[in-house]
Amino acid sequence: MANSGKICRLGILISGRGSNMLALADAVREGRVPSAEVAVIISDRADAVGLERAKERGLQTVVVERRGRSREEHDREIAATLREHQVDLVCLAGYMRLLSPEFVNAFRGRILNIHPSLLPDFPGLHPHQQALQAGVEESGCTVHLVDETLDGGPIIAQRRVPVLVGDTEETLAARILEQEHKLYAEAVGMVINQLGSR
Ligand code: GRF
Repeated sequence: MANSGKICRLGILISGRGSNMLALADAVREGRVPSAEVAVIISDRADAVGLERAKERGLQTVVVERRGRSREEHDREIAATLREHQVDLVCLAGYMRLLSPEFVNAFRGRILNIHPSLLPDFPGLHPHQQALQAGVEESGCTVHLVDETLDGGPIIAQRRVPVLVGDTEETLAARILEQEHKLYAEAVGMVINQLGSR
């Protein structure tokens, strides 16, 4: 895409605070992710704090709630919303639901996630707590392609962060989050380059 001169349209999925979404959107706006634009922010929760922040920046937001539907039905509506906004690359940023195989298939190779550990270590919930309990001296964050496994798809980029004596989940999470905000934009840039040279 980058090489073909096409702009890669990003669809960012959130469920909560949305700090990674904002960091990524800011990086795009400031030209730090070449050949990209943010097409839409989708949240599965109407009360996601990130939604307001996105609106303040003039970003297009859509809420697609689960409303008791099956995962497949919910994902179908998200996929339709992404297509409506002509999204090329889907970026999960604190999106707290597992995606259906149907969704993964529809966007295969075009879904990224950021996770606050050095995968394959500590996938799933509470990765900071897992890292502290394991007594590791280093943790970090990972951007990976999403496949049908939980946090198990091919790794695109990682950044290492020290675990310090006396760290709590909160202090470790804050140190890692600072790096997440830089890593996601860099990784998206790398993927856009790869998609462009296909
Ligand atoms: C981040 O730590 C991200 O890696 C993980 O969930 C957290 C979301 O934070 N998947 P935010 O919503 O981006 O602030």
